[in-house]
Amino acid sequence: MAAGRTPRKGLKGRMPDRKETFYITTPIYYVNDVPHIGHAYTTVAADVIARYRRLKGYQVLFLTGTDEHGQKVEKAAERANVRPLEFADNVMVRFKDLWARLNISNDDFIRTTEDRHRQAVTRLWEEVRGRGDIYLGEYEDWYCTADENFLTETQLKDGRCPDCGRPVEKLKEPSYFFKLSKYGEPLLKYFEAHPGFIEPQNRRNEIVSFVRDGLRDLSVSRTTFSWGIPVPEDPRHIMYVWFDALTNYLTATGYPLESGRNIFWPADLHIIGKDILRFHTVYWPAFLMAAGLPLPGKVFAHGWWTVDGAKMSKSKGNVVDPNEMISRYGVDQFRYFLLREVPFGVDGDFSIKALEGRINSDLANDFGNLLSRSVSMIEKYRGGVVPERVEAMDRPESEAAEGRASEEFIRKLFEVTLYSGEYKGSKWKNFDKLMDELKFSDALEQIWVVVRNMNVYVDKSAPWKLAKEKDEETLSNVLYTLAEGLRILAVYIYPFMPASAQKVWEGLGVEGDISACSFENEVRFGKGKAGKQIKKLPPLFPRIQQ
Ligand code: MSP
Repeated sequence: MAAGRTPRKGLKGRMPDRKETFYITTPIYYVNDVPHIGHAYTTVAADVIARYRRLKGYQVLFLTGTDEHGQKVEKAAERANVRPLEFADNVMVRFKDLWARLNISNDDFIRTTEDRHRQAVTRLWEEVRGRGDIYLGEYEDWYCTADENFLTETQLKDGRCPDCGRPVEKLKEPSYFFKLSKYGEPLLKYFEAHPGFIEPQNRRNEIVSFVRDGLRDLSVSRTTFSWGIPVPEDPRHIMYVWFDALTNYLTATGYPLESGRNIFWPADLHIIGKDILRFHTVYWPAFLMAAGLPLPGKVFAHGWWTVDGAKMSKSKGNVVDPNEMISRYGVDQFRYFLLREVPFGVDGDFSIKALEGRINSDLANDFGNLLSRSVSMIEKYRGGVVPERVEAMDRPESEAAEGRASEEFIRKLFEVTLYSGEYKGSKWKNFDKLMDELKFSDALEQIWVVVRNMNVYVDKSAPWKLAKEKDEETLSNVLYTLAEGLRILAVYIYPFMPASAQKVWEGLGVEGDISACSFENEVRFGKGKAGKQIKKLPPLFPRIQQ
């Protein structure tokens, strides 16, 4: 792929015959550790965005995978008494299995031990070297193997790694260097010109001041271990694991070959944790600049989870296993909790109490209850068939369905994708905007404003009374409004809870796969047809006995 050949994406550049593309990535996970809640968090968040973008009509490439090279993996394999590749094979499957259970819709899964990746990294190295930004020198400094990170004397904290607190090693060896020092100014200019490149803003400020303090050239090869990709024409050297790992994002687009996937570069969004921000916003863009390649659109760093207020660690035995959470509570319940509980971008705390609380209040009480009472009433009063809506134009709204409980109010609520502002004393935020800003928690809250108001609508319009009074027209309108509201709600919750959303559709008798629907077409109140046969399903979100 030639430098800058792919046009920057944006509405203006939209081609009528081609869908707009969206390329989203997770970090590739080290195989020296089995998957835990932190890994699940990043991947679920990326999955929500990928699914949401697909609903909006984008052609999405969603990538995840495993980071399998480096000294850390080599040492772990040694301890397990197996070859590194065998070790990686075993752990990689744990990640793949978890993603399948978590309903992750990734389009590709990359392993850095694959041939396509070796080719891409080798070419990137050659490009950068060819332009004069890699040179041979000697490295003498500190190294943290746990973080695969180089450190200067002054960065050490009490002689240990300032980030993880573990002991560091002194290294002195011939090494290739990348001329990172040359990229300080270009990086600062880039940050200035693209204020949304690093988010959240406080993280951006940290990186700006780090770069302003001056950058040293970066050692990008090692001779003390062998588990990695050899440097072209000097195979005694193994490439620095971050040079290798970061390039995975390019590999998946087919680089260096011309392939149908080239249209996806540059990536639109790298989702990462706050601990690996520097690698993604300083090293990675500098490597790309050096190779003359376009830079990604955005790097978003989320916060870290603690568990019951404590840092998660194997030695404390408090590592949260996502598999166990799925088995105990259900996959969508876990996905919902991860994104609803804590605003994306700040640290959060995991506890069983909080998880169970969310399941019972938001999922069982609010959503589950709305669904089950709506379905029961359609069954009871209309023989399980969604009734025709009677045009309200020529008849005054019944007294019972006025104000906050009116159909008009519910309709207005459904305009949340397009509508923000105030209506009859209620303030709403624009759902679409919240999703674009990765404010998942607020976006879910916005959906729940609708859910809760629909429950109020049921209470106030009291279909049981309407039935007794034989007000058949109003009763039909209310039941139609409930079925139609739930049909649309299913589309809203789909990115977060895909399996449950599909079940809601099935329960309401809506045909087809919800994943194939389009936001623009389905999220219109009144589009849903009457006459559908509903199905009574077991409770979607059973209450947890606490
Ligand atoms: N292999 C590198 C990434 C290379 S990307 C080119 C790596 N792997 S990792 O497996 O150690 O971590 C992957 C992700 O998990 C990181 O984004 C990290 O922030 C995230 N988390 C690890 N522990 C976490 C928590 N306790 N909470 C939230 N996320 C955390 O780094």
